[in-house]
Amino acid sequence: MPEQKFLPIFTRNIWHIMENNKKEGRYQRIYDQLTLLVKKSNDQQARMATIVAVLHHKMEYFFWTGFYLLKDGELTVNIYQGPVACQILEKNKGVCWAGINTKEAIIVEDVHSFPGHIACDSRSQSEIVIPFRNKEGDIIGVLDVDSKEKNSFDKTDAEWLEKILNLVYS
Ligand code: SME
Repeated sequence: MPEQKFLPIFTRNIWHIMENNKKEGRYQRIYDQLTLLVKKSNDQQARMATIVAVLHHKMEYFFWTGFYLLKDGELTVNIYQGPVACQILEKNKGVCWAGINTKEAIIVEDVHSFPGHIACDSRSQSEIVIPFRNKEGDIIGVLDVDSKEKNSFDKTDAEWLEKILNLVYS
């Protein structure tokens, strides 16, 4: 019966569209809230801390949310929320360094299939890394988010997180 074969596929597509609309809506509300919040201080660290706190508590699949910043050629952990993380990441290894070296957002559906992935917490299953630029446009680190579920992040997360990072120097 061919109709029965098609039904689950159709249902799954609709579900994905609805989930994506929900994600868009959530990011839009967070963005609007953060736009107002960051105006209260010009301090870069204060803004980074506010962004991490809001994202971590409003996006239920964000298990670890934080910054790694370049310091003396190393990626050193900075403001974050979630379980204790590695303080320094081995150079040119893992997802964060891939974000620095390619200058692009990196979306990892399954961390176990990413060569060189650095596991700071074995519960992390998927991850997104967004290069973080200063007001001159130089990359000074990354925003890194981990999820306990596989395949949590997509283009919607990358686009919104990039936009949110621009609020640090707005
Ligand atoms: N998984 C990252 C390391 C940082 S933790 O996820 C917090 C990486 O491979 O670079």
